[in-house]
Amino acid sequence: MPETPAAIRILGLETSCDECAASVVVNGTEVLSNVVFSQIDTHKLYGGVVPEIAARMHTESIQGVCDQALRQAGYGLSEIDAVAVTQKPGLIGSLLIGISFAKGLALAAGKPLIAVDHILAHLYAPRLEAEIDYPYLGVLLSGGHTMICLVEDFHRVEVLGATIDDACGEALDKVAKHYQLGYPGGPAVDRLAQTGDPDSYVFPKPNIKSSSRPLDFSFSGFKTAAIWQSEQFLKPGRSPHLPDLLASYQKGVFQTILDRIAKAVEQTGQKRIVIGGGVAANSYLRAQLAQSPWEIHTPSLQYCTDNAAMIAGIAYQYSRRDLYADWDFSAYSRVEEFRSLPKVRTKR
Ligand code: KG4
Ligand code: ZN
Repeated sequence: MPETPAAIRILGLETSCDECAASVVVNGTEVLSNVVFSQIDTHKLYGGVVPEIAARMHTESIQGVCDQALRQAGYGLSEIDAVAVTQKPGLIGSLLIGISFAKGLALAAGKPLIAVDHILAHLYAPRLEAEIDYPYLGVLLSGGHTMICLVEDFHRVEVLGATIDDACGEALDKVAKHYQLGYPGGPAVDRLAQTGDPDSYVFPKPNIKSSSRPLDFSFSGFKTAAIWQSEQFLKPGRSPHLPDLLASYQKGVFQTILDRIAKAVEQTGQKRIVIGGGVAANSYLRAQLAQSPWEIHTPSLQYCTDNAAMIAGIAYQYSRRDLYADWDFSAYSRVEEFRSLPKVRTKR
């Protein structure tokens, strides 16, 4: 009889921004625990994430979050096969806390270390809940990233388009901040926009002039228009009204994203699409996607926003290929690999 392969249990740690998270995942998909300590209540006092405070808070919470993840999973550190941690990209101080902690833990317990790319992990996240065949178009929409990729395998990802300035979540958050809706502003924009008329302001499309990068995004000028020049774009005969403005602005942001997805489908012939990141929670976007002709996969919200289950999950794929980290690996705040390439793919 063939032997059943041993279960590989990986402890994942995530501290790239303002979520301190730990999780135990078996064989890349079975999530035994998924603990997330969000610092949002602290950062909202300042209207956004304060990097120095984020790093200090990670220092205070990471041990407890990690202990809780192991306890909920029902395993001690000695029963874990490897420790995985987010290496890049993110806030450098926050990343370093997670990496230093993971190194200490792995060294003390005699376990191998896996250094995980946060963007690859987001694009892997839907596989925690569903079997999805490769390839697919991975669309990452968050406060820090906006990109469309062709995902051929867990580590083979080609960026087709990315933002050249603000991420879509940042564009929503900044407009919300200007109109004093609190932080993060995306959910407030979503809520207020539901009572507004999305056609009351006619903003210019957030476009990029260069035709060599038709899948890139630019939200910075659009955001400025909504903050400083909104009345200029009000339809004749209408009075300024915040829900109307937010509904029109939100529609512009998401129609741009839908337009780029349509172009990516056209370029690649790939209709299987995975949407991830906190902005994927948006109700307008979800309603539009539900009417699209594409095969859409959106992970549940706990795996859209930053979490360590996606880190421990993808780490299993690293481990299967013996992609372990050296002890001297460090953090990177930015990564070049995920800049969009000035190239147009042909249909296949
Ligand atoms: O993925 P995420 O939790 O963190 C990173 O930025 O990595 O995404 C946070 C972003 C914020 O910009 C927040 O405003 C946005 O997701 N967001 C939303 C909604 N819920 C969260 N944006 C629009 N509509 C929502 N319902
Ligand atoms: Zn993220």
